[in-house]
Amino acid sequence: MGQDVELLDVSMRFGEFYAARNINVHIQAGEFFSFLGPSGCGKTTLLRLISGFMDPSEGQIKIGGKDMRGIGSNIRPTAMIFQNLALFPLMTVENNIGFGLEVRGVPKAKRKKKVEELIELVDLYGTGDRMVNELSGGQMQRVAIARALAVNPAVLLLDEPLSALDLRLRSQMRAELRNIQRRTGVTFIYITHDQTEALTMSDRVGVMSIGKLEQVATPDVIYNNPETIFVASFVGESNIIQGDIISIDGDYAVLKTTSGSFFCKNPQHMGQGETATIFIRPETVFLAKEPNADNVLTCRTKNLSFEGAYAVVTLTTEQGQLLTMRLNNDGTVPRIEEGENIKVRFSRENAFLLKNGGTPIA
Ligand SMILES: Nc1ncnc2c1ncn2[C@@H]1O[C@H](COP(=O)(O)OP(=O)(O)O)[C@@H](O)[C@H]1O
Ligand SMILES: [Mg+2]
Repeated sequence: MGQDVELLDVSMRFGEFYAARNINVHIQAGEFFSFLGPSGCGKTTLLRLISGFMDPSEGQIKIGGKDMRGIGSNIRPTAMIFQNLALFPLMTVENNIGFGLEVRGVPKAKRKKKVEELIELVDLYGTGDRMVNELSGGQMQRVAIARALAVNPAVLLLDEPLSALDLRLRSQMRAELRNIQRRTGVTFIYITHDQTEALTMSDRVGVMSIGKLEQVATPDVIYNNPETIFVASFVGESNIIQGDIISIDGDYAVLKTTSGSFFCKNPQHMGQGETATIFIRPETVFLAKEPNADNVLTCRTKNLSFEGAYAVVTLTTEQGQLLTMRLNNDGTVPRIEEGENIKVRFSRENAFLLKNGGTPIA
């Protein structure tokens, strides 16, 4: 069964450079947790710290409540699946899966039983005596998972294991990984730069920018209520309008921008006079049909991209503010021409004020 993993003010420094800085997160036992962030933001560094391949420069790591300082990677209750899988290509599937058990001196009969169970778990039935280099990409993936689970880890660390697979196989393996995690109850810590992967598989996601954990939340909160401009921009498409807060009304505020003043939600309770940024998802920008809607802008359509189920319309205001609108192809959308002037709107319920600044988007 899974164990919990706590990172307490963990930093990792290489010379003067911080690959991870003051990371605090408590990953629950049996949770599917993903660290999501662009290449180079420190994801692999965190996995190496948790697995014990290196020790943090500062801070503490606990697994199952136990301080891991001085506990080597070979005796931690963790197993790792590497980006390149690191299988033995000229060994059979069975021998690959049983490798860790053999190293640990588990007797042959017991080993065989465990390997059979795992072959069943990862759906590799009938391939036990094939060489790994004869397998398909998806099958190799399964061998790597089974081999890592063979030693009964409480925590499985996965370093972008699906990145080499084609799109279709990747989405199939996502569902399977999630399934295997549920069935085993092992804590999965998954790292990826692919937002879809993180959002679809995880109980919670930690979004990282350069060395920094920006937000930890469930996938829907990460998408619908990002707390920083970095998270809003890195996960999904977003519109961003900068301005000054000119009035506050309870949980709402009015932001004055060069393209007009807009009502927005103010979840971080910023004050009047502060500069801020409105964040709006393209699927919550609509054609303005009623003249007295919340926030109406007159725009010129710059570009129209019809994608079948929906159309993406790029707009610009007279003042040069860019805006993207995603219209569902539900039969009610009128024909829009490029270069046409149209009115669009967004509701104050879908417009969130965020603090300016923070990490620039990679
Ligand atoms: N052993 C090391 N020595 C020096 N710099 C390193 C070392 N390992 C990683 N880094 C640097 O730390 C940063 C984060 O790396 P990494 O954790 O591999 O990122 P990610 O997995 O998110 O792509 C990168 O800038 C990388 O060059
Ligand atoms: Mg990496």
